[in-house]
Parts: sequence; C-alpha cells; structure tokens
Amino acid sequence: MGSPHVLAVPYPAQGHVLPLMELALCLVKHGINVTFVNTEFDHKRVIESLSGEENIPDMMHLVSIPDGLESWEDRNDAGKLMKAIFRVMPAKLEDVIEKINQSKSDKITCLIADENVGWALEVAKKMKVRTVAFWPAAAAQIALKLNIPKLIDDGIIDTSGSVLKKQMVQLSSTMLAVDSEHLVWACVGDPTTQGIVFDAIVKNNRTLKMADWIIGNSSNELEASVFTLYAEMLPIGPLLASNRLGKSVGSYWSEDSDCLAWLDKQPVQSVIYVAFGSTTVFDHTQFQELALGLELTNMPFLWVVRHNLTAGKDNAYPKGFRDRIQGRGRLASWAPQQQVLSHPSVACFFSHCGWNSTMEGVSNGVPFLCWPYFTDQFTNKSYICDVWKVGLGLEKDENGIIAQGEVKNKIEQLVTVKGYKERSLDLKAKVMNSLREDGCSGKNFNNLVKWIKDD
Ligand SMILES: *[C@@H]1O[C@H](CO)[C@@H](O)[C@H](O)[C@H]1NC(C)=O
Ligand SMILES: *[C@@H]1O[C@H](CO)[C@@H](O)[C@H](O)[C@H]1NC(C)=O
Ligand SMILES: *[C@@H]1O[C@H](CO)[C@@H](O)[C@H](O)[C@H]1NC(C)=O
Ligand SMILES: *[C@@H]1O[C@H](CO)[C@@H](O)[C@H](O)[C@H]1NC(C)=O
Ligand SMILES: *[C@@H]1O[C@H](CO)[C@@H](O)[C@H](O)[C@H]1NC(C)=O
Ligand SMILES: *[C@@H]1O[C@H](CO)[C@@H](O)[C@H](O)[C@H]1NC(C)=O
Ligand SMILES: *[C@@H]1O[C@H](CO)[C@@H](O)[C@H](O)[C@H]1NC(C)=O
Repeated sequence: MGSPHVLAVPYPAQGHVLPLMELALCLVKHGINVTFVNTEFDHKRVIESLSGEENIPDMMHLVSIPDGLESWEDRNDAGKLMKAIFRVMPAKLEDVIEKINQSKSDKITCLIADENVGWALEVAKKMKVRTVAFWPAAAAQIALKLNIPKLIDDGIIDTSGSVLKKQMVQLSSTMLAVDSEHLVWACVGDPTTQGIVFDAIVKNNRTLKMADWIIGNSSNELEASVFTLYAEMLPIGPLLASNRLGKSVGSYWSEDSDCLAWLDKQPVQSVIYVAFGSTTVFDHTQFQELALGLELTNMPFLWVVRHNLTAGKDNAYPKGFRDRIQGRGRLASWAPQQQVLSHPSVACFFSHCGWNSTMEGVSNGVPFLCWPYFTDQFTNKSYICDVWKVGLGLEKDENGIIAQGEVKNKIEQLVTVKGYKERSLDLKAKVMNSLREDGCSGKNFNNLVKWIKDD
C-alpha cells in the first residue's frame, strides 16, 4: 500500500474551484497527496492566476479533462454546460483513476468532490474508491435542497421545480427563511435551464447518500439548527482563505493597500468599513443618500467604491461631498478585506452580507450593518441580526430608498448600544475555538484526515 492519495473534483465554476483547492491544500499540509482534476477550461485559468505551475506544492498535482464543450462555447449557460459534463466527464474521470491506478504506489485512496458533482461520486463508487462530498458555503443552503420533497408536498414548487407560490420558506423555526422565488434553481436562466439544474440537484441528493463523508465549510456555532436537522453533514469550517496559494488566487482585483496605512492613523474602533461585494449595484439616488448618510455620522469611514457600483456611467458623488469628507472619509477602488476587518481601527462593517463577507466579519469579531439589497434572498442578514444578534438591518422608506437619516441612525445605534461588539467578540471566540484541535470543526477535520490515511 502506498501513501494516501486524494483525487479532488470541483464543480467547474470559479466559485467552486477555489474553495475545493483550499481544502486540498489543507490536506496537503497534513501530508496527503492530492491530484486535482479541473476541466481543461478551468485548468488554464487556474494556472494563469497562479502565474505558473511552480507555485503549486509538490504534493499537489493538477490534471485536466475536457468538459464536453468546444473552447469557444458559452460556459455561462448552466444548462448546456451541465448536459455536456454529464455526457463526457464521467468516462474521462474513470480514465484518470485507472491511469493513476496502474502505477504501483500512487493509487487513489479517496475521492473528494464538490456536492454538486454527484456523477464523480458515482464513478468513484463504481470503482470502489472511498468518497467525501464537500459543501463550500452556508449549510442552510444545502439543507434546502435536501428538503425538495417537502417543498413539493407543501405546494410551493411542482415536481419539475417550477415555483407555484411566492412565499417565504422556512424549514424550522430556528433556520433561515428564503423567498421561494430565490431558490437556487429558480434564479438560473430560462425554464429549460432551470429544469436541468433542478434535475441535477435531485439526482445529486441520491448520489450524496453514497458518500462516506459529507463535510461542510461552516461550524456548529454558526448554524447549529442546520447541523442538528441534517446530522450526516459534519462541519469542518469556516476555513477562511488563509490557505490560498499566493494572494493572486481568487482575486481578479488590484487591492488598494494604502488604505491599511490610512487605517493605522485612525483611533481604535472608530472606522466604518463600507463594502458591498462585486455584484451590488445602486441607482443614482440611493448612492447619493448613502454618501450623505456616511457624511452625517461624523465618523471616519473607508468606503470601497467599485467603478461599476452605480447603474450610471460614473459614480456621481453629491456636490462638494469629496471636499467635505477630506481627511475623514477614504474612498478606495478595492480593499484587502480580511486585513481591513482584522484592523483594530475598524468599528463596524457596512456590508451586503454575502456569505464570504459574513464569515470574514464574524471571524474578526466585527458588528454588521446589513444593506438589504438581497433581503428577499436567502438571508444571511437574518443570521446576523436575528440568530447571532451581531448586527442591524436598514429599513427602506416609503419610496423604497434607504435614506441618509436611516444610515446615520443605525450606525450610531450599532456603535453606541451595548451588546453588539460584545456579542461579536463572543461569536468570534466560539468560532475560533471550534476550529482548534479539540473544537468541533477541528476534531471533525482531524478525524477526516485520519480516515483518509487509515485506508
Ligand atoms: C468566496 O470565496 C471563495 C473562496 O475564495 C471564492 O471562490 C468565491 O468566489 C467567493 N464568493 C464570492 C461571492 O465572492
Ligand atoms: C506524494 O508526492 C510526493 C511529492 O511529489 C512524491 O514524491 C510521492 O511519490 C507521492 N506519493 C504518492 C503516493 O503519490
Ligand atoms: C486498482 O488496482 C488494484 C490492483 O492493483 C485493484 O485491486 C483495484 O480494484 C483497482 N482500482 C481501480 C479503481 O481501478
Ligand atoms: C434527499 O435525501 C434526504 C435525506 O436522505 C431525503 O429525506 C429527501 O427526501 C431527499 N430529497 C430529494 C430531493 O430527493
Ligand atoms: C464590476 O466589474 C468587475 C470587473 O471589473 C466585475 O467582475 C463585476 O462583476 C462587475 N459588477 C457588476 C455588477 O457588473
Ligand atoms: C448569503 O450567502 C449566500 C451563499 O454564499 C449567497 O448566495 C447569498 O447571496 C447571501 N445572501 C445575502 C442576503 O447576501
Ligand atoms: C470557506 O468559507 C469561507 C467563507 O465563505 C471562504 O472564504 C473560504 O474560501 C471557504 N473555504 C473552503 C475550503 O471552502
């Protein structure tokens, strides 16, 4: 018997490749060899973003197989991509396993696949390779997929996944509510695509049962009700991006690091950090109200203003805004978010509450002000405001706008009312403890490593 050798198979999309690669690097650190199987299309992009293969550790080996589409075809069409994948990739993966298996010492001892890649779990099962399914994001999301039969019973969707009723869906009183129209498959492309995606989800649910382990990149401290309801999944996270290969991976933005020097000059816990991720877009009026609200607080702020943050051509600040905030307000095109959030000068995080940002804020013990841009979606906001109680949400006025006064009032409330900072620090401590060797996530991860090695 050779040493442990894991085959890692991501779902072919940037948001899935990088997390699995991070997990693979964690395994490499524990002395496990990993062969990482990308599509040819993703392989090229990964190598480019790493600026060459020499930046990859010896124990990690990157290989690629075709995804079934021509190089020029549109991979943003999820339905088309999935069809091609099902047609071509299982056989190619079998070839990879067989080829590796022909050598005496390097045999694959375990396959780790993204939860979305059920076909890879099937291939492994057929070839008698042990399997682990990995879910990279909020556990609540996968719980929803597993409850599709209940959604059908309740008449919320039909058996092809079409949404019949617009309503909030809540699996248990301690879990998050989701608008039925924002169920994962209901927001991708046209009805045909939605059907293909829905079928794949239902099918994956079956293959998931074949997995020897199902692990989630979250923690019991953060999503207790999900892990109770769905005990087959073990939390091993949150594994933050500290394991990336170089800082270029995953970041297509140039980071404005001067803002760290600027933060150094601000008093402890004084700065509002404002950042809305890469997809939030404001209309002109809302952008101006936000700017004026920040101005009204009289607090220092670091605001990440992407070139395309507003719907119009330019980010048009209110008249005289930039002069009036001189010295107190810092505008940046992008910021090294993890470093900013861990900086002692930061008082609170004004956020769109995407899951990554949420985890980064939580891990640094920073209270949140939640922008309701996505409020009708899967609401991380309700975790933040209602379950963990480490933040406040903003309310729209009768015109559907979040007015400057609302921005000012909520920020003041967040930084002056006792409890938000304390609870944030408390949550941070619990999450960090969970990751330690004797914590829940830490133990699960170490047991997984042991199981992989014990073949
Ligand atoms: C979250 O982080 C992962 C891992 O770095 C990345 O692949 C993914 O694109 C990020 N998601 C968003 C919405 O930024
Ligand atoms: C693991 O990787 C190391 C470094 O590349 C290599 O020397 C060794 O042969 C590999 N072992 C297995 C079982 O693949
Ligand atoms: C790998 O090769 C061994 C014999 O060396 C065989 O017993 C095993 O079934 C093979 N596994 C796969 C996945 O082909
Ligand atoms: C998925 O599996 C779960 C648990 O094994 C089961 O209760 C549920 O009915 C399945 N869902 C679907 C969509 O088949
Ligand atoms: C803004 O531009 C960046 C690249 O410059 C892109 O990745 C991002 O998706 C854009 N956001 C929107 C909402 O268009
Ligand atoms: C919550 O996180 C999920 C998973 O990353 C993301 O898709 C969703 O947009 C987030 N919801 C909100 C309210 O930001
Ligand atoms: C785990 O989740 C965090 C927060 O969303 C993300 O930054 C990180 O990349 C994820 N890591 C893995 C291994 O999925």
